Amino acid sequence: MLRWIALAALIAPAALAQPSPARQAELRHLVLHDCGSCHGLTMKGGLGRPLLPEALADKPDGFLVEVILGGVPGTPMPPWREELSASEARWIVEQLRKGNGDAR
Ligand code: HEC
Repeated sequence: MLRWIALAALIAPAALAQPSPARQAELRHLVLHDCGSCHGLTMKGGLGRPLLPEALADKPDGFLVEVILGGVPGTPMPPWREELSASEARWIVEQLRKGNGDAR
């Protein structure tokens, strides 16, 4: 748990910037196609868990950002560090919390 707090503290300052509108469109596409292939096109879950707002409600942003960037070793959840910056991962978490994961 302390590890997550330390990581969240590292990630937070970089996460204040929002991706540009063009990058947001790319990220929506990525979430729908890449994340959706495991988590379901409507984020209701599949091989991966559901990523709907109610499923994420009790999980802190820092934890979710770290899962997205670092993956979950020993499970099919891959790390996205090469594709996504911390602020982009945080933006995706925001979208998932708003129920925007399926690119409506
Ligand atoms: C190859 C399949 C796969 C892909 C692609 C994938 N995931 Fe996952 N993801 C998983 C699995 C499996 C888990 C559950 C890991 C575990 O057992 O803890 C998971 C867990 C997660 C969690 C933690 C959920 C929780 O409730 O703890 C988040 C957040 C997440 N993924 C987001 C994403 C995002 C965002 C993307 C796209 C950038 C993505 N995933 C792409 C398979 C995938």
